Amino acid sequence: MERRNRKLASGIGECYFATIRWDCAEFRAVSETADRLEVTIDSGDPLVVTPVARERGYCFFRQWLFGLDPNASYEVEVRNGVQRTTLILETLPMPSGECRLRFGVLPDLHLQPRADRRALGDREKRLYPVVKELTAKYLKRLEAQGADMIFLPGDTLDPCDDETIKLLKRLFSSVSIPCHLLVGNHELYGRYNERDCYRAFGLPEHGCYTVTNNGVACIMLSTPDQACLCPGSPRYHWLTRELEALAGAHDILVFTHFSLLLHPCVQGWKNDGMQQLDDAEAVLALLERQSTVRGVIAGHKNVPSRMERNGIIHLLSPQLIQSPCGYSLIEIYPKAMAHNVYEIEEMHYLQRSRDALGAEDDERFGTGSDRHFVWEWRM
Ligand SMILES: [Fe+2]
Repeated sequence: MERRNRKLASGIGECYFATIRWDCAEFRAVSETADRLEVTIDSGDPLVVTPVARERGYCFFRQWLFGLDPNASYEVEVRNGVQRTTLILETLPMPSGECRLRFGVLPDLHLQPRADRRALGDREKRLYPVVKELTAKYLKRLEAQGADMIFLPGDTLDPCDDETIKLLKRLFSSVSIPCHLLVGNHELYGRYNERDCYRAFGLPEHGCYTVTNNGVACIMLSTPDQACLCPGSPRYHWLTRELEALAGAHDILVFTHFSLLLHPCVQGWKNDGMQQLDDAEAVLALLERQSTVRGVIAGHKNVPSRMERNGIIHLLSPQLIQSPCGYSLIEIYPKAMAHNVYEIEEMHYLQRSRDALGAEDDERFGTGSDRHFVWEWRM
C-alpha cells in the first residue's frame, strides 16, 4: 500500500526515505513485527539494520545510505525474513556552482518554559513537553551541518514573556551561528504587545528587517496577524522601500509567518481562514515586480509544501514538535535552491504525534517533491 512516498508492507511495517539528497538518503522504518531488517540497494550486499529505539510495541529503524550518485534511481529491497518490499529511491540532481548560503528553518517551536519531558503522553499531536530538548538539540545539529544561520519564521515563543525570552536567548547563545526570528501570532497571546516583543529582540518598530550574506538578502517580515501588511501600513511602506533598495544587487528570500499563497494542504474544507495574509495579492504584486525575488518561506501551517507563481517559489516548513517533526535545510547556489527535510532522530517521539494525528498524519507528510528538491530559478 502506497501512502504518498511511504510504503506500508505486511510483516515489515512502514518504510520510507525521510531525507534524499544527491549523494545520500536516510531510510526509516517503523515496525510492530520486525526487530531486524535487511536493506539491499540494487542487488548489492544486504545491510543489516537494527532498531534505534523500541517503545510501546514499535521498533524504529534509521539508516543513512551514503555514496549514492546524483540524479540516479535505485531499487531498495527491505526484507524481514521471508517478507519483503521494494522502494524506489530517486536522488536529486547536484546543483552547479558553489553553495552561497546554507540555512535552517525552524518555524512554530511554541517554546514554553514549563515544558516537562515527564509529562509526555503516548499520543501528543504537538510535543510541547519536549520542545526545549528538541530545540536545544536541533539548533546544535544545524550548526554541525554547516548552516550559516537559522531562521525562525514565527510562533517561536508561546507566548512572548520574560520567561520565554530568557529561555530563547539561552538557547540562541548555545550556538555560534546567528539565529534570526520574526514575530507570528502566538507571541502575542500573553502579556507582551507587539512593541514589547520587538524591543525584547532589538527589532525595529514594525518588526521587519533584512539579513544579507554572500549576495543573498533575507527579508524578515514580522506578521503577528493577517491584516498587518495592508497597503498603506508602515510595514507595507517599509517592504516597498526595502525591495527598491535591494533591486538587482541580491537574490532575495522573504520570510513570513502567514503564507502568501493557499497551499494544497489547506485548500477546500481544510482552509480555516487562518493561513494567508489578508493582503497577500498586494504583497505578491510587490514581490513579483522585483525580478530577483526567488522564494517566500512561511510557517504557521507546518506541512512541507511547495508552490510556484510567476517565477517565485513558495514554501511551507515543517516544525520540530508536530508530525513530520523536522526542519528544512536550504542551500542557495548561483542559480538554484536545494531543499531537504530532516526528521528528528527521536522516532519514538515522532510516533506519538503520528498516533495522535491518525489519518491526518498522511496529509502532513508532504510529497517527495515537497520535501526534497533542487529548484532552478529563471535568470
Ligand atoms: Fe501561527
